[in-house]
Order: sequence, then structure tokens, then C-alpha cells
Amino acid sequence: MSISLHSGLRPLALAAFTLLACTPALAAPTWITIGERAHALLVRSAPQARELSVRSVDVNMPAARGKRAALVKGSEKVYAMEVDDADLPVLTDAVHDELRRCGGFIQHASAAEALATLTRLQATPEPTIAPSYVIDNQAAVNAMLPQMQASNILATIQSLSDFQNRRHTSSHGAAASNWLATKWAAMGEARRDVRVTQIAHTGTNFQQKSVMMEILGTGNGREVIVLGGHLDSIVSGNVETVRAPGADDDASGVASMTEVIRVLLASNYQPKRTLRFIAYAGEEAGLLGSKQIVANLGNERTKVVGVMQLDMTAYQGSATDLWIYTDYTNAAQNTFVANLAATYLPELSVGYDVCGYGCSDHASWHAAGYPASFPFEASFATDNRNIHTVNDTIANFGGTANHALKFSKLGLAFVVELGSDGP
Ligand code: BES
Ligand code: ZN
Repeated sequence: MSISLHSGLRPLALAAFTLLACTPALAAPTWITIGERAHALLVRSAPQARELSVRSVDVNMPAARGKRAALVKGSEKVYAMEVDDADLPVLTDAVHDELRRCGGFIQHASAAEALATLTRLQATPEPTIAPSYVIDNQAAVNAMLPQMQASNILATIQSLSDFQNRRHTSSHGAAASNWLATKWAAMGEARRDVRVTQIAHTGTNFQQKSVMMEILGTGNGREVIVLGGHLDSIVSGNVETVRAPGADDDASGVASMTEVIRVLLASNYQPKRTLRFIAYAGEEAGLLGSKQIVANLGNERTKVVGVMQLDMTAYQGSATDLWIYTDYTNAAQNTFVANLAATYLPELSVGYDVCGYGCSDHASWHAAGYPASFPFEASFATDNRNIHTVNDTIANFGGTANHALKFSKLGLAFVVELGSDGP
């Protein structure tokens, strides 16, 4: 194509023209929702993509990139598009090269699902419970934080990365789920208020189960706090033979959670609300496990008060320690998370950034109206370049879990402060 599509509104104008002029039949149609920057690239790389709808979505964004930037209300356009799935790899590459992101869009099973996602994003329902974000469990939290150890986190990352891969459609992915369920069950064996379950999913060759450990609440067990990360890993290639260690993405998050569980149990901590630790299956294929888990809550009389996602905790991308991602997350809860860091981890610096799209399982919760937060290892521009490759190894994130330990501590403070409240 000879016209330059780099400037301003030109790509959008072209999309409109394409829509009016012709809508060619697509070889294998698929549906995506996509943010405005990635959309501009889509229109350039696949001008025949068909726009189904576009909405303005409120997002809380940092006023400037970087450390301690104030949060301001902004809005971003999100598009629901019908595209040919043969065009997606080119789009993924363009997003990767030009926006320095992976993916940049969410794939949906139907046009209706894409449109429903757009509607939900625009009108995120108010949380049904207004939790107290008062920090008032210093004695309990300060007694537990010093017990947390990077060496335990590293050992769990090692075990998880030793699986050939943890792809949701591979036998290895299924085996990793069984291994984690066994490990968590052994950790909780002595307690009658601890339950470990594996959650099966539906989908083509979906062999991996999500793993959930619950510590049942003593006073207010129907209210739930969720700490999550994803169990699966991905590198393109044959799912049975390809090597995908996923040490940072996201063995680190699952290992950080596992250390939270260990210390809570070692301290005989008993929450008033129920704590759920979830290692989601199939995140890398489009947040599949978390979407199903959130959908399944529909009929349960359980109220999810707060959700934190730990996805990539081990690689320190810059001098700033904790990065709170402000899109697809809850602003009030994010402020609480920043206050937790200031109270319990005052030596750490905090920055704010955005993914620009629903980049991990927090987005599944956020879309359904639950308050979610996503503290991350780095800014988007300085994150671990080795993810989704055979090089996502322990050595390549620096060989220690010292950075991941910060996220374990933040996660522990989060579940104890919210989990100790009740009637
Ligand atoms: N851990 C990544 C998300 C991520 C990567 C966040 C880099 C911040 C910086 C996650 O596992 C992932 O790869 N997500 C997909 C999107 C998902 C909807 C399939 C992605 O980013 O392409
Ligand atoms: Zn991840």
C-alpha cells in the first residue's frame, strides 16, 4: 500500500472508508477488543478489519510516565472488531515492535462476546461491598513479614520452570497443575479450615486445571479476598515438545503467592473473610481460566471484596520497586495498595503505569465489576524482554527472588488487612 498511514487520523478515516466501500468475506473470522493505539496499527496492517463498535472507556492514568506520577481520570477508545485470524500474527508483531507490548488485544469467541466485553468495560458496575481500606492490622502483618524468605520463592519458581512447559493444552500444563495442588494440599494438611481444589475448564484440549487454596473465614466466610497469578506459560511451537520455562511469566507470581500461604499457615493466621489463592490456567491464551472462574461465581452467594493479581514479580526493570498498573483496575483499591506499601514497605519506591489492554487475569475480574489491582515488577517500557521465549529463566531475571519477595510481602499485607475485617 502506498499511502502513509502513520499520521494522525488517517488510519481511522481509512477504516471508515473500507466499511462503506466493501466488507470482504473473511476466511476465518474472529473477534477482538482492542485499545486505540493498537487499533491504529490494526487498521494499517489489516484495513479490511470490520469495526463492530467503539466506546470511550474511563481509565485512571498517570499524568506523566514514571515514579510518583499523580493519577488523573482519562478516557481511552476501545474497539470491537471482526478480523481475519490470519491477520493477527502481523498485528501482534506490529504491536510488539511499535508499542513494545505483547498482544495488545483480547480475542473473543463471538461478535456477541466482543460487544458484551465492550459494554462491560464502559459501565463497570459499582462493587457490591464497600470495603474498609483502613490499615489496622500492623501487629499481625509486622509479625509475619520478617518470616518471608526469597529462597522459598526461588525454589518454587525452579520447580515450576522445570516442567517442559505449562501450556494449558499440554500434558505438562496438566502435570504442573497436579504438582501445585499437591504442594498446596500438603502445606494445608494440618488445618481443617483449608481447602485445595482443582478447577476444570472447558475449551479445545483444555487439559490444565486452575488450582485454588481457600482459608475459610471465621466470621464472614461468604466474603472473599482473592490473590492470584497464572499457572500457564507459553512459547509458540508444538505444545508437547516446546520448552517454555516461564520463570518470570508467571512462575514468579505463583511462587510469591505460595510464600504468602506458607507464612500465613506457619503463623496460624485465621482470617474473618475467606482467602482464596488462585493459580489460573490458560491466561496466556486469553485469560481463559480466570474468565471461567469469574463467570462461575454468578450463582454463588459469595461476594468478592478485593482481588490482587501477581503476574511477573521477579525481574526488576528499573530502580523503582513496585509499579501499580492503573488501567483495568480499581482506583480506590489501588490507593489502598499504595498505602499498604507506604505503611509496611516504606523503603520501597512506587510508580504507576498502564498496560493499555486487559493484559492479565485482573482484567477478567475488573470486567465483571470486582475491585482488582495489579502490582507489577517494572514499567511497561522496562519489563522483562525474555517472556514468551525459551529464555524466560531464573538466570535471566537475575538469579534471585529478592524482587519477588517484595510482592509476597505486599500480597500478605493485602490479604491480612482485607481478610481481618468482618462483622
Ligand atoms: N504477563 C503477561 C502480561 C504483561 C506482559 C504485563 C508485559 C505487563 C508487561 C501476560 O501473561 C500476557 O502475556 N498477557 C497477554 C495478553 C492476554 C490477554 C493473552 C499479552 O500481554 O499478550
Ligand atoms: Zn503473565
